[in-house]
Amino acid sequence: MKKVIGIVALAASVFVIAAQVSAFQGKPKPAYGPTYTKVQAVFDKNCVGCHGVNGRGRINLTSYETLMKGGEDGAIIVPKNPMKSALVQAIKHTQGFRSMPPGRELSAADVKLVEGWVKSGAKSNK
Ligand code: HEC
Repeated sequence: MKKVIGIVALAASVFVIAAQVSAFQGKPKPAYGPTYTKVQAVFDKNCVGCHGVNGRGRINLTSYETLMKGGEDGAIIVPKNPMKSALVQAIKHTQGFRSMPPGRELSAADVKLVEGWVKSGAKSNK
């Protein structure tokens, strides 16, 4: 009888540990700082209506690969260099660039996020 209780107790503790491990894996901590995932969410909300597959200016903002490829005038992101990134200048409404999105402004927080992400190296991080 003792042996059975021991096995049951062991099985129960293995189950508890397994449940804790999977709960931990299921909930990754939100990443600190600007990440590509957060940047893509801004594009999804504000840009992909015009910049999808065959988007305006051949700019496709639906994936990291197409974002980094740029449009018909070349790259729009220069990692670590927001000043040279047409996309950053466009959302900051810098003269000489078309203001994006047209007729609207992103929130200051969204602009800061995109700019910070480019500055930190424009990585495909989550
Ligand atoms: C209502 C449609 C529309 C939306 C929404 C839009 N764009 Fe554009 N975008 C355009 C058009 C049109 C052009 C000019 C394309 C061309 O050169 O023919 C353009 C051009 C650009 C350029 C090139 C600018 C330059 O001067 O070199 C960038 C970068 C860009 N868009 C980024 C964005 C981003 C980022 C967003 C979202 C924050 C966005 N766009 C939202 C229509 C849009």
